[in-house]
Amino acid sequence: MTRYSHNPEAVAALVQPHQVHRDVYIDPEIFALEMKHLFANTWVFVGHDSQTPARGDYITTQIGTAPVIMVRHTDNEIHVLHNRCPHKGTKIAIDRAGNTGKFFRCPYHAWSFKTDGCLLAIPLKKGYADTGFDQTEAARGMRPVGAVRNYRGFVFARLAPEGIGFDEFFGDSLSSLDNMVDRSPEGRLEVAGPPLRYMHRCNWKMLVENQTDTCHPMVAHESSAGTAVKIWEKTDWPADKPKPMAMEIIAPFMSPYEFFENMGIRTWPNGHGHTGVHHSIHSDYSAIPGYLEKMVAAYGEERAHRILGENRHNTVYFPNIMIKGPIQQLRNFIPLGPDRTLVESYIYRLVGAPDQLLERTAMYNRLINAPTSMVGHDDLEMYERAQEGLHSDANVWVNLQRLYPGAPEDFDETVVENGTTERQMRNQFHAWAKFMTCSMSTTQEAAE
Ligand code: FES
Ligand SMILES: [Fe+2]
Repeated sequence: MTRYSHNPEAVAALVQPHQVHRDVYIDPEIFALEMKHLFANTWVFVGHDSQTPARGDYITTQIGTAPVIMVRHTDNEIHVLHNRCPHKGTKIAIDRAGNTGKFFRCPYHAWSFKTDGCLLAIPLKKGYADTGFDQTEAARGMRPVGAVRNYRGFVFARLAPEGIGFDEFFGDSLSSLDNMVDRSPEGRLEVAGPPLRYMHRCNWKMLVENQTDTCHPMVAHESSAGTAVKIWEKTDWPADKPKPMAMEIIAPFMSPYEFFENMGIRTWPNGHGHTGVHHSIHSDYSAIPGYLEKMVAAYGEERAHRILGENRHNTVYFPNIMIKGPIQQLRNFIPLGPDRTLVESYIYRLVGAPDQLLERTAMYNRLINAPTSMVGHDDLEMYERAQEGLHSDANVWVNLQRLYPGAPEDFDETVVENGTTERQMRNQFHAWAKFMTCSMSTTQEAAE
């Protein structure tokens, strides 16, 4: 740990306006610094509050590689606590989800904690009398993360106690989350079961970048989506019979370059951005009977059409999630190591909307995202080949230059551009360098 650890200039130099150094994907020291700085300084998705509907309900997950518990406290608020006993470090909960009742109890020596983390009881407490225990970190119980925000059901946390505020970090990008939630006539989503969960042998950033990589579908997915389209074209399907849902989902992956160019990409400050400004692969799905009527009844004619007319494709929330508003999905790319990423692919139910919408998002998840799907494994192969290829010393740079204007860009601006630009990837790396280095040169860091 010497090359980059106390050297924010060397870390910043890995990101150039049009290219990034391969160490951002393969270097274990950079990965460790990402966990310590990037994932501590940014607002990271933890879970949806419908995953913990009752008091005492909890889920376990990670912010970066830091284990955390999201739990509903007795006051009905969601808390996010470090999943670490203040006694000797034991993880307090290991189940993915459960109900702990009114308190957590450590399985090692039975210290117990309220669901806001406060220390409740210690067996043989008299052994700590006159030891100065009350002044210790341990006496504070399970430590909460630095800051938590429940935004319309989506729970985000910042590990660092001080830093950028939630509203400043996300800014106007919250319009994508708003649109996903507004698609419920009741303005509410509910998680539909546990996510698909699978591991990829690649760096987490490769998955994030791919969400706005619009020049790959017609190439990487030709063998799967292309074959499906070819077979479909030979099918003698009656013109008056509705197209099968699966075909509506898979066919747009074979759209030509012009389709993706014209759909547009919008980038927001702090690394957020989305594809599908003008239209998207989700624009032409068949109407679900009864849905528009429910939306009009809830929001009025004009607003209902405005909500449903927004067909954003993939919205990246930096650092590591992507949502699809029109089909109520969220994918979480959880870093496990420089070349290991756990993917969680969630689907949500629009409360008050017809069940067929849930059917569609579930089908999309199986058909496109699942490791057993027709499409997702194409991407997986590309990521894993890239992870291996980057070890070649032939070239240490990864090119991100498509539609680069030739001079450094202003990422503090919200910009809409040609849908095949790699500006959103450059935007992510600009934010990466900012949040990696903003706490690196502190005296605390230098003292370690
Ligand atoms: S490690 Fe948790 S009570 Fe001892
Ligand atoms: Fe893909």
